Amino acid sequence: MCGIIGYIGDKKASDILISGLSHLEYRGYDSAGIALMHGKDIDIYKAEGKLVNLIEVLKTKQDVCEKSKIGIGHIRWATHGLPTTINAHPHTCNCKNLTLVHNGIIENYQELKEELLAKGCIFKSQTDTEVAAHLIANEYGKTNNLLKAMQNAVKKIKGAFAFCAIHKKEPDRIVVAKRNAPLVIGVGQNENFIASDIPAIIEYTKKAIYLSDHQVGVVKKDSIEIYDENDSLISNKIELLPFEAIAISKMGYKHFMLKEIHEQGDVIRNILSGKLISPKDSIVLEDFKLTKEQINKIKRVQIIACGTSLHAGLVGKYIIEKFAKIPTDVEPSSEYIYRDTIADENTLVIGISQSGETADTISAIKQVKENNSHIAIITNRTDSTMARLADSLLAINAGIEVSVAATKSYIAQLISLYLLAIFLGEAKEISCYKDEIINLKQELIKLPNKIEELLEHTENIKTIAKKYSSFKDFIFIARGINYPSALEGALKLKEISYINATGYGAGELKHGPIAMLDSDMPVLAILNTGIVYDKVLSNCEEAKARQARLIGVADYIAPKDKDLFDDLIMIPKVSDTLSPAVNIVVLQLLAYYIAEYLGKDVDQPRNLAKSVTVE
Ligand code: F6R
Repeated sequence: MCGIIGYIGDKKASDILISGLSHLEYRGYDSAGIALMHGKDIDIYKAEGKLVNLIEVLKTKQDVCEKSKIGIGHIRWATHGLPTTINAHPHTCNCKNLTLVHNGIIENYQELKEELLAKGCIFKSQTDTEVAAHLIANEYGKTNNLLKAMQNAVKKIKGAFAFCAIHKKEPDRIVVAKRNAPLVIGVGQNENFIASDIPAIIEYTKKAIYLSDHQVGVVKKDSIEIYDENDSLISNKIELLPFEAIAISKMGYKHFMLKEIHEQGDVIRNILSGKLISPKDSIVLEDFKLTKEQINKIKRVQIIACGTSLHAGLVGKYIIEKFAKIPTDVEPSSEYIYRDTIADENTLVIGISQSGETADTISAIKQVKENNSHIAIITNRTDSTMARLADSLLAINAGIEVSVAATKSYIAQLISLYLLAIFLGEAKEISCYKDEIINLKQELIKLPNKIEELLEHTENIKTIAKKYSSFKDFIFIARGINYPSALEGALKLKEISYINATGYGAGELKHGPIAMLDSDMPVLAILNTGIVYDKVLSNCEEAKARQARLIGVADYIAPKDKDLFDDLIMIPKVSDTLSPAVNIVVLQLLAYYIAEYLGKDVDQPRNLAKSVTVE
């Protein structure tokens, strides 16, 4: 995680660094720091906590800020060492000539540290990054050249990194390097930018060079040189950036999360466009590269993902098995990588990731790539590492998601999986659900309006949120295709309100969790008319008999059953198959309003980061 930024040009570097870091806060936010270069001097300012604390520090350093046109900055999500000012980046070497920021993890830092200690390096922090600062400085001692020092140093480092380094003796450049951590160079006119992610630089330039793994670059105000892993100069590939600056504005909403929840109707329209033409037409998925013949040979599907994306994958299992009749396994990437997994050329592996940068999923995909399986990646970031590993790249086009808690990207992943499942079934000419599929397509087309209608009437959800905000624990139950909705609803609540919430398959309640039920344990039950409706209702009776407070999220409750519930949230009716896409909106809103009522930092919950780039 962590975010890095760099600027070199004629403008006040501190303004650009701070603005860039504010757009990288989603990557981590336990401390921040910048280094400003003016003439042959470098000044470093750091602060513990959120970026505002660093901004306060800089208010008293305006003289340095005014004269500095080169700088590097960092926002940290602690991995090695506590989130203190000392551990905040930038870090320096003994003589303080070299200053460095880093995103990633240096796996052999202990080993390197021992060697550097023996050479007389003095360490001030507990970070792995400081090892890199000393190591590069050490190489500088041998070469007197920052580029060469970086090239030599990265060959000794094991692990993941994106580095930005400046040196007092070479005040016209920032030297960068990348391996398994994102880094983009924004190309400007007489100025250049470096960042972990596009939002940090999009207001200044729409042109960029994506550094590939093992590359090292020299960024000056009027030139950019990139070197490959053999230290040979390569030609620059300048790409046009995909995001508009408007995407990173709250547009009048109190939080990005609320704005992003409200964008979900349009997000669905966007994904359906060009793929679902009409209920009678087959789904068009031009980006899915397997032929009909190859699809017919697929014997199994493996879905690999983490967190919210994993929950989307669990819904994917239901619909792929149903409509495409292919056995589907879903597994957290972090577990997948430590097993002898069975995947071959007849396996379709689907990696799902909003960011496309989740380290566990990247490792799993790289591992499975060796088996010749077809890799389909469902992601919001077509510029990400995972996208570059894809055989079929299925873009969800949800627009940039700023809030750390995933909302619109989840619904976009769900819709992509519905389209993929139908597409695979149609390619295999499976006819048993023909009518149901036509109905599902009709429903998908109407879904954005249904969700927007729901979003217009949230008073009841707000009232219920307030009523339950003082509870310390929550249980979410559902069955069938909504079991993942229970998991995702509980995850949303715990992420942003810190209330202990757990999702269970409703049938599992009586096998243990029921022991926890009493009047202090609200149970939220998801009930959609369908084959599991009566079963979930019985599970609600069991919970009520243990004095649990019961909240129903339902599309129908018979008058005779209404008294069972303390509170009810009625949702628009859709088929059981499509219901996860509607239910989740209610659960997102409930989590949002509880957290907002409790005054939590909704968009940047503690300890979390949007892009989890460490395993
Ligand atoms: C939850 C959330 C996380 C992510 C997980 C995977 O709101 O955002 O659980 O879903 O870290 O991230 P991606 O989808 O970027 O691979």
